Amino acid sequence: MIIKTADFICSNTQVSKLPPPVKPEYAFIGRSNVGKSSLINMLVGKKGLAKTSQTPGKTQLINHFLINENWYLVDLPGYGYARISKSKKEDWDKFIRNYLNKRESLQCVMVLIDSRLEPQKIDLEFCNMLGEKGLPFVLVFTKADKQSSIKTDQNVAKFRKALLASFEEVPDIFITSSEEGTGKEDILNFVHGINQN
Ligand code: GTP
Ligand code: MG
Repeated sequence: MIIKTADFICSNTQVSKLPPPVKPEYAFIGRSNVGKSSLINMLVGKKGLAKTSQTPGKTQLINHFLINENWYLVDLPGYGYARISKSKKEDWDKFIRNYLNKRESLQCVMVLIDSRLEPQKIDLEFCNMLGEKGLPFVLVFTKADKQSSIKTDQNVAKFRKALLASFEEVPDIFITSSEEGTGKEDILNFVHGINQN
């Protein structure tokens, strides 16, 4: 798929204030600093579209980006960031859950996992929560440029194995690097396939 336009539309916390749920959308979620905003920018080829930072906790709202005028990429705050107040954490949890539960036009949750790490409890729990809600999701391993492909493959295999403790089959897996553009075509083709239906 060729990206012709990518435009910031709005930032929100309330589902009722989001754009009308008439265009397909894909939400990016994962631990703080895993690379959600960077991946969105890489996919659309626009560096500063979603705000990124070396410091975790940069994205704090539900951000809608309209792509080719007919579908949305959605950048969400990360989970598991220890250095925010308890009440802020509860707020984020609440509006993210509300978004996931209520957004009718959400086609697929893109769960980002740091490819450098062994399976993390918080990521597995998040996947299990999505499974319990029956929400479609895929796994997107990030920052693959930071270590050898052997190490990445080992961590992916371990995550896959860990998921099989609670899922009959493992969802689609993408391996990405926002630095090197790895995985761009595969993810855009995946989105295109769903948008066509
Ligand atoms: P929050 O909004 O805080 O939850 O973070 P985020 O998940 O949106 O992460 P963000 O895209 O802001 O990236 C966090 C840091 O990781 C930044 O310093 C990025 O430059 C870096 N980063 C993201 N993706 C990659 C990647 O594929 N490779 C490398 N080497 N660095 C990356
Ligand atoms: Mg972000």
